[in-house]
Amino acid sequence: MSRSSVPYKVLCVCLGNICRSPTAEVVLQQHIDKAGLNIIVDSAGTSNYHPNQPPDVRSQKYAKQQGYDLSHLRARQIKAEDFERFDLILAMDHDNLANIELLMRQSGKTLHSGSLRARLALMSQHDTDFPQQAIPDPYYGDAKDFERVIRQCESSSQAWIRYWQQHDLNA
Ligand code: 4NP
Repeated sequence: MSRSSVPYKVLCVCLGNICRSPTAEVVLQQHIDKAGLNIIVDSAGTSNYHPNQPPDVRSQKYAKQQGYDLSHLRARQIKAEDFERFDLILAMDHDNLANIELLMRQSGKTLHSGSLRARLALMSQHDTDFPQQAIPDPYYGDAKDFERVIRQCESSSQAWIRYWQQHDLNA
């Protein structure tokens, strides 16, 4: 883990930025703060389906039951500058990952600085309970699908924290 005073920046990304990635943002940030790491988390969507909307009421409800408050968040679409501003972008599923890779390649042609510093990974990259698995889209699902999002976000967040505690983030 870096001793730099500049925080490491992580962006969680799903399709709509109203279900999975806002949940991941709050769960991951809460676990990071508990572990005392100098990391800040944001979230975005690959689509612009719900600009400036709060998280889905179902995501808010099930997150609240587990002690996570999503109410302050507002949806936004990922943009080219995110590839310069963030150190790590975490995709919630494999479609998100492929879409982010494409956007990143396109952005590389238009950004002036040429500094695409963000690394890309799956949220589940180091999660041995859900290895390389997608966090399934709960939008057309029911309670168990929303509860699973929280469970997977918690499990994957713990795995990332163990990883960060063992690695130099600037390496
Ligand atoms: P999310 O879920 O990607 O986890 O935010 C979805 C939210 C909205 C839609 C699809 C997925 N939609 O089609 O509007």
